[in-house]
Amino acid sequence: IFNMNLFSVFKYLAFKIDPEIVHDFTINLSHYGPLVSELFSPLKTNEKFSLQAGDLHWSFPVGVAAGFDKNAKAIEFFERIGFGAIEVGTVTKKPQQGNPKPRVFRHPEINSVRNAMGFPNEGSEQILKNIKAAAHRRICLGVNIGKNKDTDEAHTPEEYAYLYKMFAPHCEYLVVNISSPNTPGLRNFQKRELLSPILAAMEAPRKEHPKPIFIKIAPDLDPEEVKMVCELSKEFSFSGIVATNTTIQHNFGKGGLSGAYIKPYAQAIRKQVCEYLREDPNQIVIGVGGINSYQEIKEFWKQGGSFTQIYTSFIYQGPKLLNNIAKAIQKDLDKYQLHSVQELVSHINELD
Ligand code: FNR
Repeated sequence: IFNMNLFSVFKYLAFKIDPEIVHDFTINLSHYGPLVSELFSPLKTNEKFSLQAGDLHWSFPVGVAAGFDKNAKAIEFFERIGFGAIEVGTVTKKPQQGNPKPRVFRHPEINSVRNAMGFPNEGSEQILKNIKAAAHRRICLGVNIGKNKDTDEAHTPEEYAYLYKMFAPHCEYLVVNISSPNTPGLRNFQKRELLSPILAAMEAPRKEHPKPIFIKIAPDLDPEEVKMVCELSKEFSFSGIVATNTTIQHNFGKGGLSGAYIKPYAQAIRKQVCEYLREDPNQIVIGVGGINSYQEIKEFWKQGGSFTQIYTSFIYQGPKLLNNIAKAIQKDLDKYQLHSVQELVSHINELD
């Protein structure tokens, strides 16, 4: 045990306890300031690690995926440990409990996690207060928005419009989540006839407060569906796609699976999305799903993607993962005599 670093000790103990209890404990603990983030060996980066795409600027090419900080309570913690962005939420208009517990399960043998949470969150009003409390943040902030479980199909578009209007003035980007498997019927909104009314309802508040806005999709779509969502992103002048959410293509039990297991599914979808959006310089792809090393990030850059996010690999590898990614990036910068991540991404297909 003396050879272990702090995260290993933490993980050793934490993995003996229910995942959601550990998660809530960690998020609450992180609230107690810099001391706690020091325990997580924060990454020291500088401007050469930053990445710009469209109007978004991330200080590091890796951000925290949605669902980690559902209530926007740990924004500054994630900033301190070196992430380039954080996507809080999913936020719903009213507070809700989510599904009965237990609803988060570890699958360490496949470096994966399964969750059936169903958007438990403190609701838009409280979460806006939490965001305002982090007013001095420098980290790029995204807000991932979704519908309440009891909102019917007809009222869903206005709910997304409401949430956009509420959060757009207080964040750098927003994400329309229509791909979580744990809110009954939500994924039906990945069909054109249901998705376009949502995007249309957001047009008025978007005019008032223009902010980059993305659509987050499931890794379980067929190529026609992927194409359609990409077309809608262009038609409605969205900023692009977040690919992907958790998969339901598994036999482990209820809920969506994330982590190493979903890599092939998520990668295949990202590839399609990048191809559909390649011709349009205004469309950005945010890559998420099964990313657990610099290797996957590089593959995604080669496909034409830019920003990346992680969730499950951070649970398994801890802050060391960010350090490893930074080291691997630096190694490539040295090898190819480039000066920044920005250069690396734009020349990625010319490298061997
Ligand atoms: C998630 N994810 C998620 N996504 C989202 O859009 N809204 C959410 O509320 C949540 N909640 C959530 C909870 C838990 C416990 C997990 C593990 C995941 C999905 C997450 O953002 C990401 O898309 C997937 O987990 C795939 O990335 P990784 O985990 O393979 O890096």
